[in-house]
Amino acid sequence: LDGEDVRYDPMDYAVPNPWTELAADRQACPVARNRHGFYQALSYDAVSEVLRHPERFSSRSGNNLARPGKNTDVLIYADPPVHSRQRRLMIPAFAPARVNRLEPYARKVADDLLDGVSDGAFELIEQYSNPFAMTTMGCVLLSIPIEQRPTFRRWTLAIEAETAGAPAEAWEADVAECEEYFRRELRARAEMDDPPDDLMTVLVRSQLENQPIEEDAVLFMLRILLSAGNGTTTDLITNAVWLLDQHPGQKRRFLSDVPGMVGGLVDETLRYDGPIRGIFRTATRDTAVAGCPIPAGSRVYASLMGGGHDETAFEGADDFIIDRDWNTIPPQLGFGTGPHQCVGLNFARLVGRVGLETLYSRLPNLRVRPGFQPVHRHSPIRRGFHALELIADAKQPRTTDPSMAVTPHEYKIAKVAVPGRR
Ligand code: HEM
Repeated sequence: LDGEDVRYDPMDYAVPNPWTELAADRQACPVARNRHGFYQALSYDAVSEVLRHPERFSSRSGNNLARPGKNTDVLIYADPPVHSRQRRLMIPAFAPARVNRLEPYARKVADDLLDGVSDGAFELIEQYSNPFAMTTMGCVLLSIPIEQRPTFRRWTLAIEAETAGAPAEAWEADVAECEEYFRRELRARAEMDDPPDDLMTVLVRSQLENQPIEEDAVLFMLRILLSAGNGTTTDLITNAVWLLDQHPGQKRRFLSDVPGMVGGLVDETLRYDGPIRGIFRTATRDTAVAGCPIPAGSRVYASLMGGGHDETAFEGADDFIIDRDWNTIPPQLGFGTGPHQCVGLNFARLVGRVGLETLYSRLPNLRVRPGFQPVHRHSPIRRGFHALELIADAKQPRTTDPSMAVTPHEYKIAKVAVPGRR
């Protein structure tokens, strides 16, 4: 199988559900060179092998088709041992106990946003999933004051524009402003006796302790965090809502026990149609996967969607089933696997769980607007819609206290102002 004979094309965005193409190619050959000249791994085992062997499949050229102009040997652009050391800094910030403490704040953010939704037409991404993802990431996780949400959004969009290869005028000034904010914030925390117990403080502390890491590298890590942690959770919530609507039987089951089934819904969405559909690596030497030779220097695409729909790993792989028993089947690949597996996955699960649970508890009658057909954004990496139009009615009352703060550490960071740009 080679070139034009390969049926699945991750660059062809017009095919909404390419399950048939994936299955045909996987069966013919789980790793093949496609018409764009890169090798695509489509089976669960081949995807896992690529992602678990950084010595053969490097991240130095990034996990996307393009990489930023700066020479950045940081996190998703790094291999072990540089990568391992940087990653160790972040792990404590995402430990389950620390992340779980944020749950009440995430619930409050969700309730606040849904208070603003009235009966009738409701565009999910703009009115709910994106502001929810941004606010939980920015205000709850990074302790950015809630009033700065619009600024934070501007920065995040600029970073996304940069990663997507947009001209510098579109993002340069905003990215510089964002970096300046984080630089000031990190330095201020280094001087505080009692800094907020959050992600940025974890990074600052590890800088001050025995193995200092360059401030520029930490700033770049924060930038990666913003691009890795915002749009992804937006798409997780949105894709789950669409999938439920497409599978009415599953939606009925979900509505019969929203808190009990929401964890399963999150994992099944990640397996079936998660926010990241595939990631790139570069072969460091002549190698082979599943018997398919891959020459040194080739770009290799690990298709998370392909692995997730592999029948040998998941029975009924093309069926959407929200109550799979994840203790008895292989883990889904939506967060990747191997040394770069999503470091934020506990937080991402929390955002997905709380976002979907609150949405359907308050709007159990939520449905896609009849006749609306969502359109996927163009990206071989990401999987998400431009918009998802819904109908909302019969809203239930909120369960959280409206007067509660949404930023766990608000009072402590009030003295660090966001630099103004006039
Ligand atoms: C549902 C939402 C999310 C999905 C599907 C997702 C998926 C992924 C995947 C597939 C990778 C592996 C990249 C690679 O191997 O090259 C990754 C890495 C990463 N993710 Fe996530 N992610 C999500 C949310 C988040 C959140 C909320 C954060 C932070 C708050 C985050 C932070 C990161 C970081 C920092 C990395 C790089 C880890 C490393 O290189 O060691 N992600 N993510």
